[in-house]
Amino acid sequence: MSEATAGEDATRRRAGDPWLFFRRWLANPLQMGSVAPSAPSLCRRIAALVRRGPEEIVLELGAGTGAVSRALLAAGVPAERLMVVEIVPAMAEHLRQALPGVQVICGDAFALEQALPRRWHGQVGTAICGIPLVLLPLARQRRFVEAVEAVAPGRGFLLYTYCVTSPLPHGRLGLDARREAWTPWNLPPASVWRYQLRR
Ligand SMILES: C[S@@+](CC[C@H](N)C(=O)[O-])C[C@H]1O[C@@H](n2cnc3c(N)ncnc32)[C@H](O)[C@@H]1O
Repeated sequence: MSEATAGEDATRRRAGDPWLFFRRWLANPLQMGSVAPSAPSLCRRIAALVRRGPEEIVLELGAGTGAVSRALLAAGVPAERLMVVEIVPAMAEHLRQALPGVQVICGDAFALEQALPRRWHGQVGTAICGIPLVLLPLARQRRFVEAVEAVAPGRGFLLYTYCVTSPLPHGRLGLDARREAWTPWNLPPASVWRYQLRR
């Protein structure tokens, strides 16, 4: 590889490779849910909502090209306490290259019990979801809630969305819901919701 090509590759990795993101959207728009990575303003708002004890991890589900992951690191989450799950192998590989020290799992967030190493079960401070849950049927949404609950009991999860109202039918899923942030500086404008199982 020439020096120029290697330099371009490194720049794309740092920048979150919007081209890789767009190609994946063309291949599977429902799985991606967005044509471009989340904007810095949204990523910062998500990072500001993270709660984590010193021994706990932050679990990011649907990390894409790492836009939110970078904001979490910039906000002070140590790389070894950030675990990201991404279902598309090319994106998981991109994340491994771009985010040294971060634990990248190439797997399905709906099968978290199997995908997340046992030692981290019950050690999740905050789970963050980038997967477009709004597009899924209720049974799949319920499965997602159960998968998070299995590894992060009682912690709930953050979900970012372009919807004006709650992207999940929280009453039917037995969840309490609160919109905790909003930004116009994302395309389209986006909100961050916190969901927790009703006690
Ligand atoms: C809207 S993108 C968010 C990407 C990134 N977090 C961001 O904000 O720019 C959704 C991501 O979730 C991934 N994804 C979709 N279904 C998934 C699943 N079942 N398990 C893990 N990742 C999934 C997609 O491949 C895609 O990278």
